[in-house]
Order: sequence, then C-alpha cells, then structure tokens
Amino acid sequence: SVAQRVEHLLGQMTLEEKVGQLNQLSGKEFTGPATAKVRSMEAEIRSGGVGSMLNIKGVPDTRRLQALALQSRLKIPLLFGLDVIHGYQTVFPVPLGESASWDLEAIEEAARIAAREASASGIHWTFAPMVDIGRDPRWGRVMEGAGEDSYLGARIAEARVRGFQGARLGGVESVMATAKHFAAYGAATAGRDYNAVDMSEQLLHETYLPPFKAALDAGAATFMNAFNTLNGIPATGHAGLQRDILKGAWGFKGFVVSDWGSVREMVVHGYASDLADAAAQALTAGSDMDMESNAYSSSLAAQVRAGKVPMAQVDDAVRRVLTKKFELGLFDDPYRFSDPAREQAALNDPRHREAARRIAGKSIVLLKNEGGILPLKRGLRAIAVVGPLADARRDLEGGWIVKSNAGHMASLVDAVREAAGPATKVSYAPGCDVACRGKDGFAAALRAAREADVVVLAVGESWDMSGEAKSRADVQLPGRQGELFEALRAIGKTPVVVINAGRPLIFENVAQQAGAILYAWFPGSEGGRATADVLFGDVNPSARLPMTFPRNMGQIPISYQQYETGRPVRDEKNIVYKSAYIDSPNTPRYAFGHGLSYTTFAYRDLKLSQPSMGPGDKITLSFLLANTGKRAGTEVVQLYLRDPVASVVRPVKELKGFQLLRLQPGEERRVSFTIDRETLSFFDRKLAWTAEPGKFELMVGSASSDIRLRQAIELTP
Ligand code: IFM
Repeated sequence: SVAQRVEHLLGQMTLEEKVGQLNQLSGKEFTGPATAKVRSMEAEIRSGGVGSMLNIKGVPDTRRLQALALQSRLKIPLLFGLDVIHGYQTVFPVPLGESASWDLEAIEEAARIAAREASASGIHWTFAPMVDIGRDPRWGRVMEGAGEDSYLGARIAEARVRGFQGARLGGVESVMATAKHFAAYGAATAGRDYNAVDMSEQLLHETYLPPFKAALDAGAATFMNAFNTLNGIPATGHAGLQRDILKGAWGFKGFVVSDWGSVREMVVHGYASDLADAAAQALTAGSDMDMESNAYSSSLAAQVRAGKVPMAQVDDAVRRVLTKKFELGLFDDPYRFSDPAREQAALNDPRHREAARRIAGKSIVLLKNEGGILPLKRGLRAIAVVGPLADARRDLEGGWIVKSNAGHMASLVDAVREAAGPATKVSYAPGCDVACRGKDGFAAALRAAREADVVVLAVGESWDMSGEAKSRADVQLPGRQGELFEALRAIGKTPVVVINAGRPLIFENVAQQAGAILYAWFPGSEGGRATADVLFGDVNPSARLPMTFPRNMGQIPISYQQYETGRPVRDEKNIVYKSAYIDSPNTPRYAFGHGLSYTTFAYRDLKLSQPSMGPGDKITLSFLLANTGKRAGTEVVQLYLRDPVASVVRPVKELKGFQLLRLQPGEERRVSFTIDRETLSFFDRKLAWTAEPGKFELMVGSASSDIRLRQAIELTP
C-alpha cells in the first residue's frame, strides 16, 4: 500500500533528506520577491535537498530537473507546482469572471481543460483554486476568487477542485489542487495586499472558512497558507488554523505549502526572532513545505537537533508530501506527466478554444439595457468600436497566465467585424490608452462615433491593474476614461459600454447614462468573440455578479450580507439619526446576484411541502418559473434566508441555494429547493454550528436586490 511504501522510504531517510522534501524552490520565473540562493539549484536538487519546484514548465525543463532529482541517493522524484489559475495554454475568464457564470459545470470544465494541458507539460500541481472571500474591490486579488459569498464560494471551490483533480488523483490528466490562502487573506485591512486581518471568530467560521472546508471535502490534495496575520498571528505560524482546525477538526490528510517567502516574513512581521525561529514556528504550527524562504533548508535540521522541533512533526510533514508523490504515481514513472506527444495534442486541441468562448459568454454580465438597445441588429450601416480596450488582446487575458495567446486572439473590434458581416462598416479609434491621461485622441474617437449608427465603447483596466500586489486606493475607471464617455454623450450618442476589469469598478456617470453595459471582466483567449456573441445576441446573457458593485469608494468594504442596525434606513428621504451617509445612498450601484437577460422571467405560486419542521426534517420549497419573453434564456434563481431573531444577530440575507434554468419562450417549470437543518444553521456564541428553533424567512428571486417570492417557515424544537 501507499502507506507502507511511505514508511519504508521514511525509514531510510536522513534528517537532511527529510528536510529536503519540505523545501520548494522557484525555477526560471519569480512570482514573489527574489530570494538569495544558498547554492546552485541544480546541486541542491542532485543532493536530495529539494522536494518540489515551482515555476518550471514544459516537457524539456521538467524532464531535465527530474533527471537531476533521480541522481540523489534515494531517487525521490520532484513535484512540479505552478500557478495554473485560469487556464494553461487556453486562457479562460479570470476566476472572478468565471464565477459570475454561477455555472458549476462550466467552471469544472474550465479547470479540467487547464489540468489536461498542464499535466501534459510536466505539471503535477496547481496553486489553485483561490477560495478567499473578497468584499473589498480595492484588493486586486478579488480577481482570483469567487467573490464575496461563502455559499457560492464553497460550491465554486468544489467545482474547481473536481475539475483540476478529475475523478481520481493519479490520473494522468489530473493535477493536484491547492485551496489557498489559509486563511482570511481576502480580508486585508483597507484592501491593501498582504495587510493584517482582524476578524471575529463568527465571521471567520461562517464566511471565510466554509469554501476551504468545501475544497477539502471535494478532495483538495494541498492547502497553501497566507501572507497575512490573523488577529495578530501570521497564518504561516498559526497552529490554531493549521493544526487545530485543518489537520485536527477537519482531518486534512494532504500537505500545507507556505506562500512565497511567508516563513521568512514572520521575522518581518515581528513574530519570529530570526530565520531559524521562523522555520521552527512554521513547522510546528503545521506548515509542511517551505516555498522559497530557504528557512527549512537552512535551519530546520539544526532546530530539530536543538530540541526546538519534534522529529515526529518533521516525519508527519514528510509523510504527507511523500504520500502525494506516491499517489501521483511518480515513484513508478517520474516522467509520466512530461509527455511530448500528449503535450502537443493537448495544447493544440481546438475544442479547448471552443470551450473558452462558450464559458466566457456565460461569464459576461449584462448590467443595464435600456430600451432594448441590445442585442445589436445585424445589417447596421456602421458601428464604431472605440475606447482604450477596443483593440486589446493581451489585456483580455488578465493576470496569472502561463503564456500569452495575444498573437492568436481576436480583439473586440476584430470580433465585431466578424460578427457584423461585410455589409456593416466597423470603424475603430482608441480615444486614449488605458491610463488615459490626455484627451488628444478623443477627436478621432468622436469622428468615428459621429458616422456610426451604434457606438460600442470599451473601457476598463489593463491586465496588470488587478491581481497580486495590485491594490488600488481608487477603483474608478482609470484616468480620463469617464470623460471619453461624456464626450460621446455630448455629441448625442448613447454608447453601449463594455467594461474589462478584474474587480468591480466604479463608473457612476456610465451607469447613469449608458444605453447598455456589459461587464466582461478579463474574458480570456476567446474573450473578444465571446463579447461579440453577447452584443449580437448569439448568446443570451445569464451571468450574475458574484460581488456587490459600490457607487463610490466610501461604501467599501461592501456586501449584501449586512447586519441590521438599530437605526436602519427605510426611506432614503428620511435619514436623520439613521445609519446612513449624508452624501450617498446606502444601496449599492449593482447588487450581488444582479444580471439581466434578453428575455424576462416571472416567478409565482410558491409552495411548501410543510410549514414547519422538526430538527431532523426537511422542507421542500417550490415555485413556478416562466420565461415571459421572446427568446430562450437562462435564469439563475437564488434562494436567500433570514433568521429574524437569534442569539447572535443574523445577516439581513444569506444565499442558501441557486439553480440555473434554461427555458424556451413561454415555457414554465416548477423549481424546488430543499431546506434542512444545515440551511438554518449559524455559528453560535459557543463557537459551534447550531439551528435555533423559531421563524425563518425564505426569499426567492433573481438577485439579492430583486426578491420575487417570500415565505416564512418554522423550526420546532
Ligand atoms: O501561488 C502563489 C500565491 O498565490 C501568491 N504568492 C506566490 C505563489 C506562487 O507563485
């Protein structure tokens, strides 16, 4: 068995060889600050001093380094890890964008394709999914997550883990997944990356931890800890998180890798006295593998000999790492993931690009559509596609890509030309670049717009404005992009606005005056075409916001999951001594769950299987959903809950279920949700999950701000 093989190998290892298995080094590219190397990487691998490499990819390089590892005394193969975040060769929408699809099958499929491509190129392990909850759009890494909601985040975490790992770890087309960053990294104070986190136990357990638990239950092979401190303790040295919760209460059997240099950074935090102390604290707290700190490789053995770290804890960490290497089949064939023929076939599979287009189409949110300006009709005389992102390619891919496809991509202008057909004249002028500091280019954009029947304005961020270390103190449209929109309005145009970004942006003048708005995120390799598919109605939009969009910076952080104050605003005209801003409404610009379609849906006839339930019971709630418009379309029906009186005050609304339903025009279907004790549970004062008897309010709707049906139920003791 794997366990026996692991024990047999462990029994032969010196302390230095054990520590080597816990050491991870970066290859050619750096995804963190450079670290001084103790000696040559090659020599370190050959001596058995390296257990894993990151940032090495492709068959030739992975084979070359694997061959070095096989020259070590015990011939233990390397693990190759890489940030395969939203695709390998084929780029899918950034994870936040993909999450806007709420389509778990599509999300799983994207991860599966990424795994198929990466695993053929020698990669065993992706540092994804990032399952951090994000409620602050200043934090650039909201781009990598599934948004603000714990329930949605948990379902998406499961889908991504299933996609990466496939039916079985050890399948040759599977890579190990990493649930990261454990934990609470997304709550960085003031949205500044790597910043400290201070959080109640309730919020941690109810909101920030469930997506991690869901990833674990879906089989995530590894976890990565985080750069932040949590209530004063660096996550990397946090025994409460890693030993008590993850490896204790949750029974996690995989291994934990530190984040880049996060062991070393415990010294900078003021938590460890030096690198040796940091190594001892991280290992004893449950961080199994050290990414790029050189802390374990330089001092862990000495710390064990000095009695600061129990050998049993080192053995436990090594056992966890070796177990994964055996499960992946690397001891049987260390090169089984570095296959030139498979690499060729996987990276050039046209079905992957087709999936990228389909999935991007599902991720584009129709925020506004006044007077049915969209979809565009075919046969128009002239369309002007203007704005700094109108002819973008690289920007459409977003950050964290393995290799750019920009040379083989259609920009939005290209795609509109393809879609509109030869009879329509499509003109283009950027107006300005993304930074948009000057207005020199505005005149050309206005000239193009004047001659057109329809103006499409493409604005937003460049790919490198969202992501790690890309916090922004102001998330408005960059530079003078908003003025370009105003200039188009001033010549009497009502543009259709396409926004590319990795986070919710603020664009008040556009929100108020645009004819239609498509929020297209960074949509990936086929993003230009997918956007045109939605513009022309070849795809009927169904995506929904996974994060609340604020009206202004002052509302941040923001989430639909608020708590009622003692002085809530019931009427915006009466805010005296109310919990309000005197210069802004409380309501967001666009609510969590919002997204329009080219058709309309009606909800009616809510029924309950029974009005009350005992502790072991279930209630089925059902209702009729009808497509009342003229096109087939997909509705994302959302179930929310409120517990109006509880021993710990509950949010005004919590998502508890959702379903995607595709209906033909005129079609009506009964939809049902099951409510059980877990649906009604929360994390109580004694830090345990509980459901308290009493009334609960169920709400069904099309967005957190668009509840169509309500019904109370009762939990009896
Ligand atoms: O996986 C990433 C992590 O999310 C941030 N720091 C670097 C790691 C490896 O590239």
